[in-house]
Amino acid sequence: MDKNSPIGVIDSGVGGLTVLRSLQKSFPHEHFIYLGDTARTPYGIRSREEITALVQELVDYLAAKDIKQLVVACNTITVLGTEVIRGGHPFHVVGMSRGAALALAATKNKRIGVFATDFTVSTLSHQKAIQALDPEAQVFSQGCTKFVPLIEGEKFGTPELADAIGEYTAILKKDQVDTVLLSCTHYPFVKTEVEQAFGPGVTVIDPAEATVLAVQKDLYASGLNRTSGPGRCSIYFTAGLERAKHLAARMLDLKQCDFQEIKL
Ligand code: DGL
Repeated sequence: MDKNSPIGVIDSGVGGLTVLRSLQKSFPHEHFIYLGDTARTPYGIRSREEITALVQELVDYLAAKDIKQLVVACNTITVLGTEVIRGGHPFHVVGMSRGAALALAATKNKRIGVFATDFTVSTLSHQKAIQALDPEAQVFSQGCTKFVPLIEGEKFGTPELADAIGEYTAILKKDQVDTVLLSCTHYPFVKTEVEQAFGPGVTVIDPAEATVLAVQKDLYASGLNRTSGPGRCSIYFTAGLERAKHLAARMLDLKQCDFQEIKL
C-alpha cells in the first residue's frame, strides 16, 4: 500500500460531499477520489441485496484506482458492515460514525432523535450504538424518505422542502427529543433549516467530524498518511454532472477539484 495513493470516498450521490468537506480540511496533503452514484440514488429505499450489489460496483471501481483506504461517507452503506463493503479488497474501510457519544454528551433528557433513511432505520444500528453506551437513553428514529430526492434535485428554499422538514421535525418534537442526529450524509445540506424548524431547545448533530477522527486514527495506525505536498481531489458522478457540481459548490472549493461523469 502506497501512502501517495488516494483515499476513496463513496456515497449514493452528493451526500458524501458533506463529509469530503471535513476530510479535505483535516487532511490537506491527501489525494481524494469521490464517487457518488447519482444515477441510482437514493439507496435508502432499496433492499439490503440491492444496496450490496450497487456498493460492490462502487468499491470495485475505486479498487481499480489503487486507493489506500475507503471512507464510506454514507450511513446507508455503512450499516451493511465493513467486511461486506470491502468485498475482499486489501484496503481498510472506515464507515460513518454513529454519533452515539456526541449525542449522549449533548442530551440532557436522554431522548435522542435519529433522522436517517428507511434502510438505516430498519437496521436499528444507531439505536443499538447509543444504547450500548447508555441503556437508559431512549432513541426515536425517523425515516426521512423525502429529503434525498429534494436535496439531489436542488430544491433548496422550496415549499416542498419546507413541508418535508416540517413533517419530520413535528414527529420528533412530539417525542420530546432534545438532540437529533443527522444520520444520513445528505441531511447536513439542510442542517440550518432543520435547526430552525426544531428551535433552540434541540441540538442537531452532524457526525462528520467524528468520522474524520476515525479516518485519521486508521491512517496514522497504518502509517499511510501523506505529510507534505498539496492534495488533489477528483470527483466522479454516475449522472447529472452539472447539477452535482452546483451541489458540490455548496460544500467545496471547486478550484481544488476536477469533475467527471463516469459509467459503472
Ligand atoms: N447519503 C446516504 C446516507 O448517508 C443515503 C442516501 C440515499 O438514500 O441514497 O445514508
